This record gives sequence, C-alpha cells and structure tokens, in this order.
Amino acid sequence: MRDQDLDKLNAWMTAAEHRHLADLRVQEITRALRALSSAYVERRTQGNGRRVHGALDTAGKRAAFALYYAPLHFMAVSEAVRALGLTQPAPDAIVDLGCGTGAAGASWSLAAGATSTIIGVDRHPWAVAETRWTLSQLGLRGMVKQGDIERLRPARSGESAIAAYTLNELPDGARQRVEQQLLERARRGGRVLILEPLARAVVPWWDDLARRLTALGGRTDEWKVPVEAPPIARELGKAAGLNYRELRFQTLSL
Ligand SMILES: C[S@@+](CC[C@H](N)C(=O)[O-])C[C@H]1O[C@@H](n2cnc3c(N)ncnc32)[C@H](O)[C@@H]1O
Repeated sequence: MRDQDLDKLNAWMTAAEHRHLADLRVQEITRALRALSSAYVERRTQGNGRRVHGALDTAGKRAAFALYYAPLHFMAVSEAVRALGLTQPAPDAIVDLGCGTGAAGASWSLAAGATSTIIGVDRHPWAVAETRWTLSQLGLRGMVKQGDIERLRPARSGESAIAAYTLNELPDGARQRVEQQLLERARRGGRVLILEPLARAVVPWWDDLARRLTALGGRTDEWKVPVEAPPIARELGKAAGLNYRELRFQTLSL
C-alpha cells in the first residue's frame, strides 16, 4: 500500500475510533467483534445460510465492523487494484455494491488518484450514513443511496463496480442477477472487481463464477498479503484473537 493511502486510512480510523469510543468502551467493541467473527466462522465451517444475521444490529457490532473489518477490507482492495492494474486510467465512476462503511470504493478511488466519483449502495441505513461520513473524511467525491443492489438502474457507459465481501450475503438468484449487471458494466467499458474471503464454504459458487468470467477475459487471483493494520484494528484483533496481520482473500476481475 502506498504511504499516502496508509496515512489517509490511519487518519480515517483515528476519527472513527473517537466517534465510536464516545459511546462504547473498547471491551464492549471487543465482545461484539468476537460475536461477529464467530458468526462468520460458524458460517464458514458449517456453510449454513448465506447471511450473518444481525451483523449490524447493535452499536457494538457496527463499531466492530467499522474499526476492524472495514480497514482490513480497505487494505485488501488497495493491494488488489494496484496489482491488477485497475488504477490506470482512473475510473470515472465506481459503484460500490453493498458499500458497508464505504471502505472498498474509497480505497479504489484513493489508489487511483482520488478523481473517481463513488456511488455507494447499501440496504442498511447505518451503512449509508457511515459511507457518507467516510467520503467526507477522506475528501472523496460521491453519493450514497439506500437500496437493494439487485435493483440498480442500468449501468452507464464506463462505470466501474466493486463488490467487496458482499456477494456472499446474497441468495443464489439475487447473486446471479447482480452477476448479470456486473457483466453488463464490463461490456459497457467499466472495470469490475469482486473480492471474497479465501473460504470455499462461504463462496461455494466461486469456481462457477470464475469459469464464466475467465471465459469472457476476466482473471481470478488468490492473495495472502502481510499488512500493518491501523492501531485500533490491531488492538481489537489482538483482544479478540483474530488474524489481523495477514489478509487472505480472492478476487475476480474483468
Ligand atoms: C460484509 S459487508 C461488506 C461491506 C463493504 N463492501 C466492505 O468491503 O467493507 C456487506 C454489506 O452488503 C450489504 N448488503 C447485503 N445484501 C445487500 C443487498 N441485497 N442490497 C444492498 N446491500 C446489501 C450489507 O448491508 C453490508 O453492509
């Protein structure tokens, strides 16, 4: 990751930490992070159900997501877009599908020179507000809408899209409809990037999708990248016994 992007990430996380710690103690966020991560692990080992129910339903879990998972996702996207050559030319627009706190679209835009317009979409009202805050903190241009990513307006020419850790939350039919949208974006000249954890049970459909996208000229990659996460993510990850030192994820890009 470039130093300037790491500096932005650290400043964003410091501001986020002050906001969340105004209402919660670190111990409460750690407890919520343990609950969130065991829900993810349970799904990973049992493959039962696609959504982690109630992932954002308490202030503690939202803080845990914002201060632990979001910065790791930001770092994963930054590594991937630079290594895959998705930063040049900078996308005019980046649609961030299931934007959460806005980490993925913001990371791609920053790595590409911060000129892209980000269009964040999430069905959760907290995520919409949080992404707006993220864009303003990072000085990025964009808009954020509450809505279902299955039902987006048709892709505009040259609009790129990212789905980071989102497709695994969709039922099969919805995921296939989003896949069609992503292909349409690629046909209209946009770049498309999908990130998911390196865990087959979470993404049992990965190989099929990879076959379809590589047949159209896309590529698939697996990543194991050592990182220096922001201090609050390290503190929470250490307290919750999680691996915050190495990112493990896979990408499909087109
Ligand atoms: C695990 S989070 C990932 C957030 C973000 N992309 C990141 O990388 O940090 C998944 C997000 O997808 C959103 N989501 C799931 N299904 C959705 C749907 N059908 N329409 C819109 N948002 C959805 C959730 O609300 C959540 O914010």
